Amino acid sequence: MLEPIITTDDINEWKNFLLLYKFALDEINTKLTILNEEFQLIHSYNPIEHIKSRLKTPKSISDKLRRKGHEVSMENAKEYIYDIAGIRVITSFTSDIYNLVALICKQNDIKVVEVKDYIKNPKPNGYRSLHLLLEIPVFLSDRVESLKVEIQLRTIAMDFWASLEHKIYYKFEKTVPSHITEQLRECADLANFLDEKMLSINEEIKKYK
Ligand code: GTP
Ligand code: MG
Repeated sequence: MLEPIITTDDINEWKNFLLLYKFALDEINTKLTILNEEFQLIHSYNPIEHIKSRLKTPKSISDKLRRKGHEVSMENAKEYIYDIAGIRVITSFTSDIYNLVALICKQNDIKVVEVKDYIKNPKPNGYRSLHLLLEIPVFLSDRVESLKVEIQLRTIAMDFWASLEHKIYYKFEKTVPSHITEQLRECADLANFLDEKMLSINEEIKKYK
C-alpha cells in the first residue's frame, strides 16, 4: 500500500493541533503546582514529589488510531485518543493520591470523564496507579477548546515498579518469560507492602508533634 503524501501544510496543522494539548498540559501543571504550594503553606507538607508531562508524537497518535480501527485525522485523534496530553504525578504516600484527586475533581472548570483506580483494583500483572481522564478548557483568542488530558497518579514505589515492568515488556517485545512475570508480581506485592508500611509510620509520627 502506498503511504499518503504528507505536505508542509499537514505538518503545520498537526503542530498547531499539538500546541493546543501543550496548552492543556500547562493549565493542569499550573493547577497542580498551586495545590502543592498551597498545601505547603497550610500543612507544611508537599503532597507531590515530582511531575512529568509529555505530548504524544504524531507517529504514536496515528499508530494508535490505526490500532483502534480509525482513520488518521485530527478529529479522530481529538475524539478517540485520550492520552495525547499525559501527566504523571508522583507522590510519597497513597493518601496523597486520593487527596489530590479529590481536590482536582472538585475544580469546576474541569470535567472528570473517567477515573480508573488501579490502586483499589490492580491489574493482573500487579500494575497500580490511579488514572484520571479529564477535559479542560483552553481559552484561545477566537474560541474555547475543551481538551482531554490523562493524569496518572502514583507513589514512588508504584512508579519504580511500573518503570521496570515497562522496560521488561519492551525488552522481550511483549512475551515476557513466566519466571520474570512471577517475580514482577512478587515485587508488586512488596511495593504495596512498602506503601502501606510507610503510610502507617507516617501516620504514627504525626502524633508526636
Ligand atoms: P492505552 O491504550 O495504553 O492508553 O491503555 P488503556 O486505554 O486501556 O488505558 P489504561 O488506563 O489501562 O493505560 C493507560 C496508560 O497507563 C498506559 O499507556 C501506560 O502508561 C500505563 N499503564 C497501564 N497499564 C500498565 C502496565 O501494566 N504497566 C505499565 N508499566 N504501565 C501501564
Ligand atoms: Mg496510553
